[in-house]
Amino acid sequence: ADEPLVLGIETSCDETGIGLVRGHTLLANTIASSMDEHARFGGVVPEVASRAHLEAMTPTVEAALAAAGVRLSDVDAVAVTAGPGLAGALLVGVAAAKSYALGLGVPLYGVNHLAAHVAVDQLEHGPLPKPCVALLVSGGHSSLLLVPDVAQDVISLGSTVDDAAGEAFDKVARVLGLPFPGGPHIDRAAREGSGTAVTFPRGKIDDGTLDFSFSGLKTAVARWVEARQAAGETIHVPDVAASFQEAVVDVLTRKALAACKKYDVHDLLIGGGVAANSRLRALAQERCDAAGVRLRVPRPGLCTDNGAMVAALGSNLVAAGITPSMLDIPADSSLPI
Ligand code: KG4
Ligand code: ZN
Repeated sequence: ADEPLVLGIETSCDETGIGLVRGHTLLANTIASSMDEHARFGGVVPEVASRAHLEAMTPTVEAALAAAGVRLSDVDAVAVTAGPGLAGALLVGVAAAKSYALGLGVPLYGVNHLAAHVAVDQLEHGPLPKPCVALLVSGGHSSLLLVPDVAQDVISLGSTVDDAAGEAFDKVARVLGLPFPGGPHIDRAAREGSGTAVTFPRGKIDDGTLDFSFSGLKTAVARWVEARQAAGETIHVPDVAASFQEAVVDVLTRKALAACKKYDVHDLLIGGGVAANSRLRALAQERCDAAGVRLRVPRPGLCTDNGAMVAALGSNLVAAGITPSMLDIPADSSLPI
């Protein structure tokens, strides 16, 4: 018999993501983003995101079904992001998922967004090594996880105590006059600059924890730029971008490899929007090679928020025989891992 067809729904932030996965074969990954509506505010506006999810839900599900060449009635299970994320945005996805599951008479699974970021890699690189360490870095989260089994055992090792890594990229981009979201612009500018031009602080680098802190770095960059501008100097944006980026990826990769060492794990996975960063990928590869750790980074379209990651984790839950959550799923903005 065919493996089950799982519909995944992701609405934790600004992306309405609909994924269709059979077993661990990706059939469709369709996304409607409301980012254009948020750009002029310099950040995601929760109420705007919720309304956009409501409008995008049905057309995005229909587009995904068409892309996969399947019918809604073919769906065997529904999975939805239950949290963490923006409460109002999550509610739209959870309500839609309950409706689909109830209408179709199929099991419904509420999943953790961070675990889904890990599970998605199976769609590209096959079964996850057990255990692996995952570094998840995006505009909303920066976490290190120990993953003995993505379907039932994911342990938080550390996370940011203030800003997320992507948030730091976005805020520093604004200081440098680059558009929102700033991560890709900093990445591009940094290629023309030197990562050693300015030494910026590496928060919590030697504190013995697996937590991160980026707000001191962000402030240090802003102060540095303000001081130069007040003195009438022109800023060499590529050098500042590269030096800031180096500080972020130095800390991220050092802590990720410290986690692998501490737990004797030989596979590291990096996910989330910031995983698209070219310097992060290069330095992570260099440090993994030196430590004998294998590195897995999904392609950019699977790293940023999407529905396929939710469907991928849903598939694991179905395969593991986990009891579906059905209508009990809360939308929990601070859902723990
Ligand atoms: O995963 P994502 O699409 O959404 C969430 O925040 O959950 O991540 C978006 C974040 C933004 O902060 C964006 O600036 C950052 O990922 N980002 C990057 C790059 N591409 C996206 N940061 C650094 N370098 C990049 N190439
Ligand atoms: Zn995310």
